[in-house]
Amino acid sequence: MKNNNFFYQQYDKINWEKQEKTKINLFVNNFIIKEYLLKKKDSSISVFDIGFGIGFFFKLLYKSLGKRYKRIILEGCEPSSKNYHYYVKKPLRVRKTAIIKTFPETFLDTKTSTKFDFITCIYVFPHFVSNEIKKTAAKIHSMLSERGKFILVVANEKYLEEKLRAKKDLFIENNIIGLGGRKYKEILHYSDIPKIGKLIDYNREEAFYLHLFRSNGFELLEKKDLNDSGFICTVFVFEKK
Ligand SMILES: C[S@@+](CC[C@H](N)C(=O)[O-])C[C@H]1O[C@@H](n2cnc3c(N)ncnc32)[C@H](O)[C@@H]1O
Repeated sequence: MKNNNFFYQQYDKINWEKQEKTKINLFVNNFIIKEYLLKKKDSSISVFDIGFGIGFFFKLLYKSLGKRYKRIILEGCEPSSKNYHYYVKKPLRVRKTAIIKTFPETFLDTKTSTKFDFITCIYVFPHFVSNEIKKTAAKIHSMLSERGKFILVVANEKYLEEKLRAKKDLFIENNIIGLGGRKYKEILHYSDIPKIGKLIDYNREEAFYLHLFRSNGFELLEKKDLNDSGFICTVFVFEKK
């Protein structure tokens, strides 16, 4: 098993900033904005993005939310110093009725007193090691407002299993994680991202995520598989009960 810091420190050695050119995750980012965030009926909105990378999603988000909501609060954390500093060189500038606050820290180390309508976690949860998962779910719950929503995006479990069967050199190890008396499969593996680099993360059973968030005070509102040019991800939308 890797230690907690390994998963964000690996971003200091790859080229995640190439996201600006390759537009990786643009499809799922736009989907989340259109299908969930812009559907909030109110004149204000608050969003926390866990592991915001170089701020690619933040910038798209502000462009769309800026036209629709009067008051906007965007907050997020990013512990990779390379990614964080890349964002800080060209940060998002917002109007007076909007607030943006960023933290150069891991999610568990981030301290904010804001309550959010949405918390997004786009391809970040597979970087959390098993001993920080329950604390992470409880913290997400405590940071959401009444009926606030948590949007989780991970690579589709079955799609990744198939890929690891076909490309055996991407496999690292199999683990078992226990939750409430049940056992779930976890696979540590490489992801080779064109023009960006090779990363390590965990693939966990879908049933694990459902169990984890149900047992931490969430209800599943929607689960959707999306095909982004052949790469399949799963989007879960959980609501705070
Ligand atoms: C695959 S990238 C995704 C970035 C961004 N969410 C996006 O979709 O463009 C994963 C990000 O998670 C961050 N990360 C890793 N461990 C983290 C942690 N414990 N807390 C917060 N972010 C973390 C990494 O530094 C990296 O920027």
